[in-house]
Amino acid sequence: MNTIHDLIRYLDDSPSPWHAVATSAARLAAAGFRPIALHEQWTAIPQGFTVRDGALVAWRVDDDAAPAAPVRIVGAHTDSPNLRVKPRPDAGSLGWRQLAVEVYGGILSNSWLDRDLGVAGRLIVDGAPVMVDVREPIARVAQLAIHLDRDVNERGLVLDKQAHLTPIWGSGAPAAGEFTEWIADRAGVAPGSIEGWELCLFDVQGASLLGGDSSLLASGRIDNLVSCWAATSALIDAPAAGGTAQVIALFDHEEVGSGSTTGAAGPLLESVLERLVLARGGGRADLLQSFAASVCVSADGAHAVHPNYPERHEPGHRPIVNAGPAIKANANQRYATSPESAAVFQRACAAAGVPHQVFVSRNNMPCGSTIGPITATRLGIDTVDVGVPQLSMHSARELCGAHDPPALTAALTQFLAT
Ligand code: CO
Repeated sequence: MNTIHDLIRYLDDSPSPWHAVATSAARLAAAGFRPIALHEQWTAIPQGFTVRDGALVAWRVDDDAAPAAPVRIVGAHTDSPNLRVKPRPDAGSLGWRQLAVEVYGGILSNSWLDRDLGVAGRLIVDGAPVMVDVREPIARVAQLAIHLDRDVNERGLVLDKQAHLTPIWGSGAPAAGEFTEWIADRAGVAPGSIEGWELCLFDVQGASLLGGDSSLLASGRIDNLVSCWAATSALIDAPAAGGTAQVIALFDHEEVGSGSTTGAAGPLLESVLERLVLARGGGRADLLQSFAASVCVSADGAHAVHPNYPERHEPGHRPIVNAGPAIKANANQRYATSPESAAVFQRACAAAGVPHQVFVSRNNMPCGSTIGPITATRLGIDTVDVGVPQLSMHSARELCGAHDPPALTAALTQFLAT
């Protein structure tokens, strides 16, 4: 269902990368996509998906698709900058119990202050992952009172990531092993059986519409679960395209450079594409032929123009909120967009009846990057970088238009179907 309310459900169901993968996997399975594990032997599966940790690749291969058939790929990422519970989390002093956390990715530190935080992620229990999701306020990074920091508004807030971001999660004296026992209880497993974890703190306030006209969406993880939702919805909605394959790749670890087994710089997408070709009786030559004719839309957040800081944006290329997805271009190849790949996405927008716009950063400000150039460099597949314009990127609670995510989904559906 391509509605903003469905996106709100997706965001709230996905407080961690592993939950985002589980949410997409459940939706794909309900739509008839068959799961297959990477360690299994692959046969031709017309509609399937595979999961590795915080990453998922799903596909629909038309019955008439030759092994060398071109592939339409949508890429996105499941991870968002946040605070993660360290392996030895029990900390605190002076009557406070605290959790030792590690900063993941480029957070806006101030946005994590004075929020009610829950914890979600996965425990490794006897070698297997067990999902855990505690949607209650259990922790808070407390701000210093203005009376103890009189000139903070004039001087600006400076937060040391090691000293100032440690959340409080109770009062009294900390005790070693206390958090392990608590999270084991909440997950319904024995404390001694936990061998490790990846646990994210998250704002327990759910996604919501915002504005007197409800035309905006406020939530954590808009970057980049909006694109994961759009990609998943588009693959489910898209009709099979004659003689081609449709693929979505939801990678992990984009916010920390994509270099991992499940990141865009890893082998996951290439190995899945190769196995899809091999399962149809093709070989290496078919794979390379397919790459040469394939196109990838890399979907990730774009910067909407900020009304209070218009000077931070390139005057001729400032995305407006609720004016359609932005095509992100950069002559220095921080984005993979080429004129040809941009034209493919423009045609998809036109076919879907949605507007599009163009983002280029200022010459005197560094440009961000995303998975597009990484997959383009790895596989040599023509790629266009696009995204929904948003404010407050990497804040614990971001903001975007309520009309743009369904517009992105509609464009991606058209892209996959042609
Ligand atoms: Co992103």
